[in-house]
Amino acid sequence: HESALAVLDRLCAVIPDYPEEGIVFRDLTPVFADGAGFRTVVEALIEPFRGGFDVVAGVEARGFLLAAAAAYASGTGVVAVRKAGKLPRETFSQDYALEYGSATLEIHKNDLAPGTRVLLLDDVLATGGTLAAAHALFERAGTQVTGIGVVLELDGLPGRERLSAAGVDPESVHV
Ligand code: PRP
Ligand code: HPA
Repeated sequence: HESALAVLDRLCAVIPDYPEEGIVFRDLTPVFADGAGFRTVVEALIEPFRGGFDVVAGVEARGFLLAAAAAYASGTGVVAVRKAGKLPRETFSQDYALEYGSATLEIHKNDLAPGTRVLLLDDVLATGGTLAAAHALFERAGTQVTGIGVVLELDGLPGRERLSAAGVDPESVHV
């Protein structure tokens, strides 16, 4: 059957100057919309981490789609890393800068037991700001990020270096 790399080469859309001039935006929504393609990509995404995590976390919003599918496929629970102001109980909160703007991510303080092994997923690794902030949140919660996986790693940006410096080498399905 078609490999994950082939699925991504065929279905990932490339949009110049979105959301602002100079950004070449990679859009994975056509991959998510393709039944066989989505399954192939989710399986490739979790493959390097098999057996090494207790729960899957995804970053709002596109990371949610991947994390839920990965958790279901692995038989684990799923945790939502949310943009600020969406969670009803006490949170850990982390500001970060994006390639285009800035934002704040949050997780609930008491949803995971200390020591829980977390697989952290997102669609795209660009500057690494988002996943570094999410990683910091789980560290503050006393849990352990044992893996970081992304579908697409953007070339020419410091995402990989930034996450490695934080202590976790990311795995990507496609560079
Ligand atoms: C995008 C993408 C990643 C992040 C990557 O999300 O889904 O989460 O940016 O960029 P970085 O590596 O430079 O941090 P965005 O914040 O646009 O949110 P969305 O998923 O809600 O559209
Ligand atoms: N695609 C999707 N998300 C992103 C991108 C991109 O090219 N750059 C930063 N976040």
